[in-house]
Amino acid sequence: MTTTFINPLTEANRSYKIAESCILVIFGATGDLTARKLVPALYNLAKDGQLPGHFACVGFARRPKSNDEFRKEMEDAITRFSRSKPIDQQLWKNFREKLFYLQSDFDEDAGYDELNKFLSKLDKQLGTKGNRVFYLSVQPSFFPTIVEKLSQHHLIYPPEMEKKWSRVIIEKPFGEDTQSAVKLQRELTQYLDEEQIYRIDHYLGKETVQNLLVFRFGNSIFESIWNNRYIDNVQITVAEEIGIGTRGRFWEEAGMLRDIVQNHVMQLLSLVAMEPPTSLHASSIHDEKVKVLESIRPIPENRIDEFTIRGQYGPGYIDGELVKGYRQEDNVNPQSMIETYAALQLYIDNWRWTDVPFFLRAGKRLPKRATEIAISFKKVPGCLFQSGPLAVDSNNLVIRIQPDEGISFKINCKVPALNNVIQPVKMDFRYGSYFGSAPPEAYERLICDCMAGDNTLFARDDEVLMSWKLLTPVLEYWKAHPDFHFPNYASGTWGPESAEEMLKKQGRHWRII
Ligand SMILES: NC(=O)c1ccc[n+]([C@@H]2O[C@H](COP(=O)([O-])OP(=O)(O)OC[C@H]3O[C@@H](n4cnc5c(N)ncnc54)[C@H](OP(=O)(O)O)[C@@H]3O)[C@@H](O)[C@H]2O)c1
Repeated sequence: MTTTFINPLTEANRSYKIAESCILVIFGATGDLTARKLVPALYNLAKDGQLPGHFACVGFARRPKSNDEFRKEMEDAITRFSRSKPIDQQLWKNFREKLFYLQSDFDEDAGYDELNKFLSKLDKQLGTKGNRVFYLSVQPSFFPTIVEKLSQHHLIYPPEMEKKWSRVIIEKPFGEDTQSAVKLQRELTQYLDEEQIYRIDHYLGKETVQNLLVFRFGNSIFESIWNNRYIDNVQITVAEEIGIGTRGRFWEEAGMLRDIVQNHVMQLLSLVAMEPPTSLHASSIHDEKVKVLESIRPIPENRIDEFTIRGQYGPGYIDGELVKGYRQEDNVNPQSMIETYAALQLYIDNWRWTDVPFFLRAGKRLPKRATEIAISFKKVPGCLFQSGPLAVDSNNLVIRIQPDEGISFKINCKVPALNNVIQPVKMDFRYGSYFGSAPPEAYERLICDCMAGDNTLFARDDEVLMSWKLLTPVLEYWKAHPDFHFPNYASGTWGPESAEEMLKKQGRHWRII
């Protein structure tokens, strides 16, 4: 494809929304996420000149540590995990001076007092103007305590304050069902305005996902065929080769529907199916996403088995190597009924999408790592190209989210020869090769947007709740009716047979990836 992609969500926003002077406080700064994602993202923002001129990052966690120790650990983390390598020594020398560490337990009042004093001191030294981003890179059970303490210690300001602002970023999960999501929202909004809450879904920070809006609404050719007259079905796949690794304890509480489908997959669905927003402002986009989620037909309680499939991986082969089954993983119950695969068939009851099935699937220990949205168009009408060498397959548009971000389009072509043979060919656009550089990491974009006060790419409370409302009955049904066929797919295969059956019944099939 030779289209030039201009991303207004990047370019336009940068022209009027710039990260403002601030201090970013990371709660849980000795954790895995800080080392693997957050600090490398800050370093890359500094490298690209996107960090505010007046900036500091303060790590806050339980382990005692000096500033120098914290800086050394972060240097190692950047060396290992940064997308730009090797580390730029001159840049690092300046960047390290912006990193600080403060030791405290999350429920210790003295720690927040000290934090308040320390931040005020940094404001004076660095000109950070009292602005704050609090990044809660912690277990969700700590969210209410930390937010309450921040408020009690005057670290959260009322949103109407004109001269300075405070914002809080939280990591998923945002609840584990409708009831707990409502409770969490109530606890947070006791101290924070919705405008101050930034719910991170790192999928939304991925370049290809942002590009979905440009692709749909910045090209007149696609929008006119983006409906039930031309589209036969939509498939969203999140496939992972890896198993649950060391996260057995977490996984036993979560499962695939909670961990991936409720957030990432439903976000992708809402972006692919939403109506054109009235503007690129955050509220317009969120409004349209919510409308789609509201239009999804609830799965009837007595037909959940018909519209949903669950699976759990057994032992099998990945890349020729024997791997263990879920029940043999560390910290997993040997009789566990937790799903590591989930597939759903959903319908959106609105004018655009009536009768178009949306097939969603997410699984662990599948044959390859791939996240994509595949739009399968209806077959050509009439009897010209139906059988033999002249038979044509349907056109497919595939938006690859990871890895190898890009877009491909399958069209039918005549093979150059005297006889008439038709073969599908692929037009392919790859971010890496077309633009010559890897796109920024999702966390870079999202942290930068939060510092700029732009919550377009964060999940709003009603989006989260609508998604839970749709999926909680499925979770409850699955819990009440365990699947005694588990494990029902071997590692290295595309999930349970029943997932294929669900589509076969309709004369459709999952796309071969
Ligand atoms: N890791 C990922 O890739 C990833 C991806 C998406 C979402 N998340 C989410 O992000 C959050 C953080 O994940 P993580 O993997 O970084 O977790 P982690 O490695 O377990 O780190 C937890 C952090 O919280 C601190 N902590 C725990 N209890 C504390 C207490 N009572 N007082 C003070 N500090 C305390 C720990 O400090 P000490 O070690 O000093 O005790 C540590 O810094 C989780 O909610 C997770 O679900 C993580």
